[in-house]
Order: sequence, then structure tokens, then C-alpha cells
Amino acid sequence: MNKNTAYSFLIAAVFVVSSMTAYNINHVDKNDPQLLNELIDLEEVSAAKDAPVVAVKKTKSIDKLLRQCATCHTFTQNGKNKTGPNLFAIYQKKIAQNDSFKYSNSFKSANIVWDEASLDAFLTKPKDFVPKTKMAFNGLKNAEERAKVVSYLKELN
Ligand code: HEC
Repeated sequence: MNKNTAYSFLIAAVFVVSSMTAYNINHVDKNDPQLLNELIDLEEVSAAKDAPVVAVKKTKSIDKLLRQCATCHTFTQNGKNKTGPNLFAIYQKKIAQNDSFKYSNSFKSANIVWDEASLDAFLTKPKDFVPKTKMAFNGLKNAEERAKVVSYLKELN
């Protein structure tokens, strides 16, 4: 076999392979539901890949946050005390003003007025802000969640 014949074979082989590939691409059945699903999946994957990556840190809703307090507190006017005192209208009041609740000594001797700053500090870690408090709650680590709870307490008047 001379050089030219070898080239001709090679070119013929390349032609055959590429036309087979073209045949396959042009002869997919676009009505095949299975295939259609796969194509849709592929589109979704590439759309997801192109989507900008945004770090969304979800904070809990106020309802969900208050549920953590509600085991021990009520929030309604004249609501009963549970393990903790009723929390209606405590904002701008001194700590431990609910006469029908038995506060801890550390609460009774603390000199605190409940405002945004003190509530935020207390709810971050109750036992750090009022040492020996009997509020057995670890605190809300998320600042945004604390702000939600504080503004809720602020509106309770
Ligand atoms: C396990 C029970 C418990 C949970 C849960 C709890 N608390 Fe308390 N809370 C208490 C107790 C008990 C006290 C009184 C503390 C003391 O006397 O040392 C208190 C006191 C308070 C006070 C001060 C009230 C006052 O009259 O000065 C506030 C404000 C408060 N809690 C808010 C909250 C919020 C908001 C949550 C939820 C994020 C919460 N607590 C969750 C038991 C609880």
C-alpha cells in the first residue's frame, strides 16, 4: 500500500465515523419522553451551575423563636406565669417587677432596665448577663434572631 492509498483510507475512516456521529445526533427522537426528561435535567443542571452563589443564612421566624420561650413564658396581657414570668409590657421597665412571680435573688438584686441593649445582652446568654438567674435557657446565638425577639417584646404594650 503506498502512502496515498493509506491517506485515502484514513480520510475515508474519519468521514465514516463523523457521519455516523452526525447521524446519531440528527436521529434522536425528540418525542421520546425519557430522552426529553434527560434533556430537561441537563438544562436544569446548567441553569443551576450558572446561578450566582449567594450565601443565604436563614434566620428563624418570630413564631418559631417565640415557641422556644413559650414553654416558660406567656406574652399576652394578664397571661399567667409559668416557669418564667409573663412577659407582657416589660419593655422600659425595671427587671423583676412582676409581683406574682417568685424571681431569683440575683434577678431581684440586679439593677437593670429592659431596653434594646439589655434585652439583647440578656438573650445572648442569660447566665452571663444575670449570673445565677434561674432562667434555664442557653440563649440565642444569632444577632438577627435576637433583634426580632427584642422588637417583638418592645411592641408588647
Ligand atoms: C426554661 C424556661 C425558660 C425559657 C425557655 C425562657 N425563659 Fe425567660 N425567664 C425564665 C425565668 C425562670 C425567668 C426569671 C429568672 C430569675 O428570676 O432569675 C425569666 C426571665 C425572663 C425575662 C425577664 C422578665 C422580668 O420580669 O424581668 C425576660 C425578658 C425573658 N425571660 C425573656 C425570655 C425570652 C425572650 C425567651 C425565649 C427566647 C425566654 N425568656 C426563654 C424562664 C425561661
